[in-house]
Amino acid sequence: MNNKYINKKVILSSYPVGLAKKNDFSVVTEEIDTLNDNEILVKTKYIGIDAALRLLLRDSDDFLFRVKKDDLIRGSIVGEVIESKNPKFSDGEYVLGSLGVQKYCVSNGEGIEKCDLNLANPELWLSGMGLPGLTAYFSLLDVCKPSPDKNVLIIGAAGAVGSIAGQIAKLAGSKVIGTTSSDEKCKWLIEELGYDHAINYKNKDWFEELSAVSDKRLDIIFDNTGGQVMDESLKIIGMKGIVLLCGSTSQYSENEIKGPNNYIWLGTMRARLQGFVIFDYEDRYEEARLNLSKWLNEKKIKMPTHLVEGDVDKFPEIFEDLYKGKNYGKFVLKLND
Ligand SMILES: NC(=O)c1ccc[n+]([C@@H]2O[C@H](COP(=O)([O-])OP(=O)(O)OC[C@H]3O[C@@H](n4cnc5c(N)ncnc54)[C@H](OP(=O)(O)O)[C@@H]3O)[C@@H](O)[C@H]2O)c1
Repeated sequence: MNNKYINKKVILSSYPVGLAKKNDFSVVTEEIDTLNDNEILVKTKYIGIDAALRLLLRDSDDFLFRVKKDDLIRGSIVGEVIESKNPKFSDGEYVLGSLGVQKYCVSNGEGIEKCDLNLANPELWLSGMGLPGLTAYFSLLDVCKPSPDKNVLIIGAAGAVGSIAGQIAKLAGSKVIGTTSSDEKCKWLIEELGYDHAINYKNKDWFEELSAVSDKRLDIIFDNTGGQVMDESLKIIGMKGIVLLCGSTSQYSENEIKGPNNYIWLGTMRARLQGFVIFDYEDRYEEARLNLSKWLNEKKIKMPTHLVEGDVDKFPEIFEDLYKGKNYGKFVLKLND
């Protein structure tokens, strides 16, 4: 190895109770001074802040993955290869991978993708070109199939996945309604992203507003949050409608996870609840990225990326802010050099 590096990484110091707080995380340092054959050293440039992380911070094996106490916090990053002993990677290349919340990481290259910066800027590989964009792309186009005659509701519309999903549904000609937590974010959805309607679900009459703008019923409910908004919306699901279970952010910090009460409407309306996991589409990521970057360059879509600059120490604060709904699009920590 040419140099020694001091890595800084964020680990879990205690299992959060309710919303994760800053002091549930700690920052530790370690020295990196060796690179074995086939390994690469990556310097992190951008860290994606993922809502799903909260579900993993549990003292139980109830879910597929977990982060245990003292473990490195999981997270997708975009970084630059600064040393390589792996013939597939060269110094200076930008890569994307689930390498965790840390300044430097050593990897054997497995599961690491190269970012083609001709297609999009590096930070966009965590938003529109990353899992949020890919999730919106395949779950809508392959599963929900929006079309001009359809009413689409995006719950969690201003987040990383929702902000792209709404734009793809608009491209398909559907009428698109979004829900989010503030009037400012509603304005942004309409003015910046072209949503037809946006509803602040913190308002007490949000459901009346939703029913009024969905002149007929909803053909597609694209659900990122679960909870009360999804539950109430089921009352106006359309005939043979689809409720795409993309995520359940409202439940991730809860001890006891609750499903919807109004499921009976699915039976009456011959509608379905449909699960979805992006990793099923791994062999088609390239196809999606070519289309997404083409739409970006043709200014047909935006890839909203909410950048905050700082050191890895800033991660706990931004993770708290994500759950306060402070992000417009994908929350990304841009690391200082
Ligand atoms: N199925 C898949 O393969 C797949 C892939 C990627 C992501 N996902 C899931 O998709 C969902 C969205 O992910 P994302 O990365 O795009 O996150 P995100 O929407 O960018 O960020 C989380 C947002 O959730 C909202 N929120 C926070 N606490 C909430 C609560 N208690 N109730 C309702 N809303 C709350 C906030 O928006 P408001 O201001 O609007 O409240 C916040 O901005 C997550 O559940 C994630 O797990 C699934």
